[in-house]
Amino acid sequence: MKKLFSILFVTLSFFSIKADEGMWLVQLIGEKTYADMVKKGLKLTKEQLYSANKSSIKDAIVLFGGGCTAEIVSKEGLVFTNHHCGYGSIAAASSVAHNYLRDGFWAKSKQEEIASPGLSVQFLLNIDDVTDKVNEKIKDIPVNELAAKLPGILASMSAKAGEGTGYEIRIGSFFKGNQFLQFTYQRYTDVRLVGAPPESIGKFGGDTDNWEWPRHTGDFSIFRVYMSKDGKPADYSAENIPYVPKHFLPVSIKGLKDGDFSMIYGYPGGTNRYETSYGVKLKIDIENPFTVSLRDARLKLMMTEMLKDPANKIQLASYYAQVANYWKFFDGETKQLVKYNTIAQKQKDEAAFEAWAKGKPEYDNLFVNIKSAYDNWRPYAKHRVYIAEGIMGSPLLAFAATLKGLDVALSDKTTTAENLNKTIAALKGAQERFIKNENIISDRNILGIVTKLFYTDIDPSQRPQAFYGALKTTYGSLEKEETYEKFAKDVFANTLILNKEKWDAFIAKPDTATLHKDPAYKTAISFLDNFNNNYGKFFADFNGATYALNKKYLKGVLEMKKGQAIYPDANQTMRVSYGNVKSYTPRDGVSYNYVCTLNGLMEKYKPGDYEFDAPAKLIELIKNKDYGQYIDKQTNDIVVSFITTDDITGGNSGSPVINAKGELIGLAFDGNYEALSHKIAFDKNLNRTICVDVRFVLFVIDKLGGAKNIIDELVIMKN
Ligand code: ARG
Repeated sequence: MKKLFSILFVTLSFFSIKADEGMWLVQLIGEKTYADMVKKGLKLTKEQLYSANKSSIKDAIVLFGGGCTAEIVSKEGLVFTNHHCGYGSIAAASSVAHNYLRDGFWAKSKQEEIASPGLSVQFLLNIDDVTDKVNEKIKDIPVNELAAKLPGILASMSAKAGEGTGYEIRIGSFFKGNQFLQFTYQRYTDVRLVGAPPESIGKFGGDTDNWEWPRHTGDFSIFRVYMSKDGKPADYSAENIPYVPKHFLPVSIKGLKDGDFSMIYGYPGGTNRYETSYGVKLKIDIENPFTVSLRDARLKLMMTEMLKDPANKIQLASYYAQVANYWKFFDGETKQLVKYNTIAQKQKDEAAFEAWAKGKPEYDNLFVNIKSAYDNWRPYAKHRVYIAEGIMGSPLLAFAATLKGLDVALSDKTTTAENLNKTIAALKGAQERFIKNENIISDRNILGIVTKLFYTDIDPSQRPQAFYGALKTTYGSLEKEETYEKFAKDVFANTLILNKEKWDAFIAKPDTATLHKDPAYKTAISFLDNFNNNYGKFFADFNGATYALNKKYLKGVLEMKKGQAIYPDANQTMRVSYGNVKSYTPRDGVSYNYVCTLNGLMEKYKPGDYEFDAPAKLIELIKNKDYGQYIDKQTNDIVVSFITTDDITGGNSGSPVINAKGELIGLAFDGNYEALSHKIAFDKNLNRTICVDVRFVLFVIDKLGGAKNIIDELVIMKN
């Protein structure tokens, strides 16, 4: 902890206040930042926000399932997170007979809670600055090799630091490799499903309303963390007891006003606010649009099957939602980056930097070199997207590609029996999970379409020639869709991955000859080898160069902005952002209120619709205005969601929205469309966080779910 207050403390302490931009490392909040929080309305001491020794709000926040945030809301380890964060677990617990995804689920006692294998939560215990240690380790490595080598180095340093402690250590890179912090986590693996609204509440509005305000979605679900009888993390066991937290959040049903203070704790996954104009250009021209078009094609094929049969829907829902979420995001991001001419903004920043760097030889030609790194890579960038979002967009091929490790292990004479057995055991489990979620018809159609699109859209000189040559010989014209359909059909009919008997026999005694003949493996490897052998070097050079150059750029920026506040880019470490509940003007002549209500849900309601249906019971409650203590006095309605100016991004999903007194007022679940460029450039006028109002959450638990047991567990602040 000691060294922690080095670079960051200095930079954070003297900054000039600017809008509500900033995802601050909570333990490093400087006096000026804290003073600004107080000015905006905060009523808590710094110790209550974060304390190394005493319990503080930070102890109620967990990294949920490796990609979301959740908060502890009772003394018995109850956690709230988003519905879309619990989605995979809710789907996994569902069957056609017990369709919790469609109908919702409410445990009326702890006995009824459902174990969620694979789900875990992590508590942050400690942070240390390890910049010197890491720099010592890498001092002899050429900086261009760091992009490739650093992840392994950090992983092994982390593993070593955690050895024998029972804790998990992760070293994070900040300011593009200019600072390294080490985080200590404690992971709990017995996490059970306690409650979820029907999907028609939890995902009301679906992908049409996703990333948009106003929003009428009850995006929450409820879980409970368990521990062993002696108070330690433990895998699921009926003997386990509810986790006893150091701190949990009380829940406020007092209501909100425009301008109220709000802060959000959580685990934002990633931002790139110092992306250069060259990076933005590649994103706008190539990476985003082709990711979007390939996802579009895959999504349509999945949706066709999901609509046919509830079993398909349960099987595909979670994967579909993931793909769809960023399909819309990348599309919106491109539009906003273009609309606000972010490239020009970045060029201005770069010009200012160059002016500052004049006479400092270390920065000579920085942007010239960045430009040339992008120029060299650009001809292959589309190819890479077509591999990642096209070829690997077939779940079968993505799984088949993971057999490469086995292939290598089998071919390498030095592989020990122990290592080989480990690889085999891991693949056994992975294949079972893969089969559970594999929808053959949609995947077969996806394989057909992506191999065709690769053929038509990618520079002919870059194609895997042998693959397309064989395709032509076996199936005929490469221009015809039929060719790809026949090919896909054969792959699915003949791969051992989908044939239980063949798979069991193979994995019991794997051999390379069988593997090399498998049509799914062969296809996956043709594309991957073609890319890796012929273009992998360009990609590695690009990554090596941009890592080194961006690191230098950020080093300069930190120097140039000395004395100002600079928060590091999000990297899935705990942050706090703060701001206010606030209405906004999305475009000329239009103004958006800071809350939306059940009245608005009724306006969108379309009985039987895939996205805008609502449970009959909710409609009944609305008709009778049966709102109890959850009613909002200003609107005389239930407030479904509200917006704040806090700076968040993906990974913050499920994060607590906390009022001036440290009470839970909502759960962050989305960003608004008008500021979808937020990963690259924060817009201080338009950026809003969309939050489900905790009063709506409680209303649904209580009145719709009838789960008084859950309500009784909470500490509810009424005035
Ligand atoms: N956009 C939300 C987020 O990234 C996820 C919303 C999930 N809902 C959906 N319709 N896909 O946090």
